[in-house]
Amino acid sequence: MNRTMVADTINKIGEEVTIMGWVETRRDHGKIVFIDLRDRTGKLQIVFVPGSRAYEKVSEVRPEWVLSIVGKVKARPEKLINKNLVTGTVEMEAADLEVLNESKTPPFEVDKDTSKVEEELRLKYRYLDLRSDRMVKNITLRHHIIRFIREYLWSQDFREIETPYLTKSTPEGAREFVVPSRLFSGEFYVLPQSPQQFKQLLMVAGIEKYFQIARCFRDEDQRGDRQPEFTQLDLEMSFVEEEDILKLTESLMTDLTKAVCPEKRIAMAPFPRISYKDSMEKYQSDKPDLRKDKGDKNELAFVWIVGAPLFKYSASEKKLVSSHHPFTMPRAEDLEMLDKEPEKVRAYAYDLVLNGFEVAGGSVRIHKRDIQEKIFKLLGVSEEEKNRRFGHMLEAFEFGAPPHGGIASGLDRLVTILAGEEVIREAMAFPKTGDARDPLMGAPSPISEKQLKDVHIELSKEAKGKALKTADTETND
Ligand code: AMO
Repeated sequence: MNRTMVADTINKIGEEVTIMGWVETRRDHGKIVFIDLRDRTGKLQIVFVPGSRAYEKVSEVRPEWVLSIVGKVKARPEKLINKNLVTGTVEMEAADLEVLNESKTPPFEVDKDTSKVEEELRLKYRYLDLRSDRMVKNITLRHHIIRFIREYLWSQDFREIETPYLTKSTPEGAREFVVPSRLFSGEFYVLPQSPQQFKQLLMVAGIEKYFQIARCFRDEDQRGDRQPEFTQLDLEMSFVEEEDILKLTESLMTDLTKAVCPEKRIAMAPFPRISYKDSMEKYQSDKPDLRKDKGDKNELAFVWIVGAPLFKYSASEKKLVSSHHPFTMPRAEDLEMLDKEPEKVRAYAYDLVLNGFEVAGGSVRIHKRDIQEKIFKLLGVSEEEKNRRFGHMLEAFEFGAPPHGGIASGLDRLVTILAGEEVIREAMAFPKTGDARDPLMGAPSPISEKQLKDVHIELSKEAKGKALKTADTETND
């Protein structure tokens, strides 16, 4: 197809080209009609003057119709140059026009900022919302961030490795999403809260440097900075200490910011490190926002919070629980307090906070069976539960597990902040609503009797009644 992208028209002055895309706006100025046509590279102003074949057809054209237009690219006179458009130095005079598809009137105006549109409507018609400038900018920024991260870590000899989504419980503190097994009645897979155990097993396997852009699943109450499924930049390294992981992460974040958001300023470099205790005392928070000017969207205040306690006391469970996760290594100098004053033991654990949001968290791991067993004991994990849930990890530690540690960064949160947004949904193509629904696909939704039977599930009376009300008449066979 002989198509010129809109952004390339600036190099085609005087030439006749074909462009294709969506009608953003149409303006009638007396006899002359203007259309802004949008493709993935930008927008171009097109002029329709009486006498051309294109002019005869343009009167029926409406916003969001899909057109193919043939015309000549012309330089704009100096005083009509539009600095806000990539193609602001040129325009096209249309000769012919073909309607490739019509569009109904969209439920909201996609040529305006859609952030004020009702969330339910935006998500139901996300494919329209994603046409808006703001979403194009955010999704493109996300792409550049992921691309930068990949190239950065590949160039440092990291292996990018995928780990399973259908797996077993991983303790990260949230409720889990479960998937029933058809072949093993009464048994379930669990969607991972993070690839934590697999990345440690990859270290036992001798991979030494692993990363993954990994989807994680957590069934927890939603907030502005949380989603039930989200993406982590997950990484792990062998033969490292805390310092190595902090340094790598800090260089990555610094170089990433310079490369993809040159307009942003990192307020403090190297990133300050504050102990968890000091942060709680000084800021009453483990996520302090250290920006000098909180209204400045270009200021980035990264800060490390280090040395959090290994355990905290859970009043609801009336026992110790892990502050991070149970695979975190206690600090060497605190080991002797493990038996008598476990709450005082600090961990080799670190969180990276950016402008008051936790954008990464990690730790040095336990790689010896005896220490790991001791931690499970202090956490009140019974012998039976320990073997059932973590027997494979304990066993792996007995086959030459190297010292290792790692970190995971919440990519959606990072993109949100770098994009200057406040809500995580603005940084994701297809997020869920505040109550974990997808209004576009209609998920979650009931499934057919046959599907339920296949996976050996019988609904309670109450659930059945609800499911009938919303049931999709289609069977999903
Ligand atoms: P953690 O649970 O701290 O650590 O998660 C790492 C980072 O993931 C982001 N994050 C989320 N983002 C959006 N929605 C959520 N529901 C959500 N939950 C977490 C945060 C957080 O800092 N396995 C360990 C990492 C490790 O020890 O290496 C882990 O998952 O930005």
